[in-house]
Amino acid sequence: MKPFLKEFIFSTSTCSYQIEGGRLEGGRTHSNWDKFTIENYYIPLEGAAEREINSITHAADYYNKYKLDATIMKEMGVNGFVYNLDWARIFPDDSGIINEAGLDFYENAFKSLIENGIKPIPILYHWDTPLWLEEKGGTSSRNFLEAFRAFSRAIFQRLGKYTNLWFVNDENSSYTVQGYLDDYCPPGKKNAREFWKAIYFLAISGAIAKDEFDKAIKEGSVNPGSLLGIDHDWTPPVPYDENDQDDLNACKIFNEYNLNLFLDPNMLGKFPNCFWDAIKKYKLEKMVLPSDLEMLENNKLQLIGWNYYRPSIIAHPKRLNEKIEWHNKHSIFITNEAIIVYPKTNRYTDWNWLILPEYLSIGAHVLQDKYNKPIMILENGLGYFDKKINGIVEDWYRIDFLNEHLREVQKAIDEGVNFIGYSAWTYCDIFSPSGGYRKKYGFVGVDFDDPNLGRYPKASMYWYKNVIKNLSTFENKKINYNTFSKEAKLSLKNKKNLWNI
Ligand code: BG6
Repeated sequence: MKPFLKEFIFSTSTCSYQIEGGRLEGGRTHSNWDKFTIENYYIPLEGAAEREINSITHAADYYNKYKLDATIMKEMGVNGFVYNLDWARIFPDDSGIINEAGLDFYENAFKSLIENGIKPIPILYHWDTPLWLEEKGGTSSRNFLEAFRAFSRAIFQRLGKYTNLWFVNDENSSYTVQGYLDDYCPPGKKNAREFWKAIYFLAISGAIAKDEFDKAIKEGSVNPGSLLGIDHDWTPPVPYDENDQDDLNACKIFNEYNLNLFLDPNMLGKFPNCFWDAIKKYKLEKMVLPSDLEMLENNKLQLIGWNYYRPSIIAHPKRLNEKIEWHNKHSIFITNEAIIVYPKTNRYTDWNWLILPEYLSIGAHVLQDKYNKPIMILENGLGYFDKKINGIVEDWYRIDFLNEHLREVQKAIDEGVNFIGYSAWTYCDIFSPSGGYRKKYGFVGVDFDDPNLGRYPKASMYWYKNVIKNLSTFENKKINYNTFSKEAKLSLKNKKNLWNI
């Protein structure tokens, strides 16, 4: 396996509502996530691998600690940081007037990253709609489009000079499925019509952002040659039985709804068949304007950000009647022609997320063959219960997980996939939608019980540093922890209290 090239981007990712805090500072107003977490506050029993809906008012307080965090990232050795911009901080009300303090915050955060040798890789929108806009219909309303245009323009004009790599929306799929069909996330609806509207307006918003992006390049506020992509969480389908035609067909249907529906509009400039079928079924023809379709066609995006956590094992619904031991099973929400199944024989995380790293390289080929654009992994990580033993988190399970996945990135590159970077989820512990603060993802731990929200390194941070320094993962799947742990343990001991600032 060849080492990674020096210019490969090794980054970490996180998201504003999950770490930023400062929700009541700097002239900001509430968003749909503030409302949702306040109204649905729920703390399960300690140690339960369940959903915790906790306050995000302070989260990890990146708002006040961004300078410290940039220096920690420097120590980690990364050269990129993927982060979305909080809309309600920049446009706190519907007057159309920019809150300069909001842009100041991001400008300062970007400057700190750059001073530490880290490229900011901004995402414009990660599910967090200002409440004033949510009340005007949010993503399932045409009002979203002009508001998004103003938001994109404000960001490109002020922050365009700090980077050359941008993404529009994070995971339109999870956001619309969980927010409009499943009432799991804000805006907490169960309404198929609203769901299709949200898919439509989010796709058009990507094209509008590209229109503004190109204008900003012409005007000189965005660096020439900069790229704008979309971030999607396609879970490659694995047929339950690869010799069964019904299961294979179910995989095709799954791809129509999980891949084509979310990437075709912004990468190919047109909606796939399943979209047009739904428009008819829900009588939404009037929503679709020729000028929108023209905008889509003329403003295709330039790269794919891929959030890979797991594939989906897909079966034909006939399997529901069979006597098979599943861990879990459910329909794919949008259609009942395919189901996702969780056979007991597979590996799972504490939160029952399937672990199958090999589909990262298999899926990368599918993305490349279909869209022929550069790809960057924007999220890949392990949510787990971490335990501090003698003040240290030795998260070998996370190192194993990430190492196995990064090896698949290396493999795909060797096989000719145009991967430009890898960004692990996450830089530090976060508020997780499915596990709150108990589901740990970070290379850097955050002491959420400490009012200072102190940071501490985990073993995985030193593993990642080592990968970046040597441009290579551990060669064998079995990691020799004894050799590795000497250096890492020493660093961990010396550092364990250092970041309690
Ligand atoms: C991605 C989201 O879908 O999954 C992140 O973009 C999220 O915001 C991540 O944190 C992991 O999901 P969870 O629920 O385990 O935090």
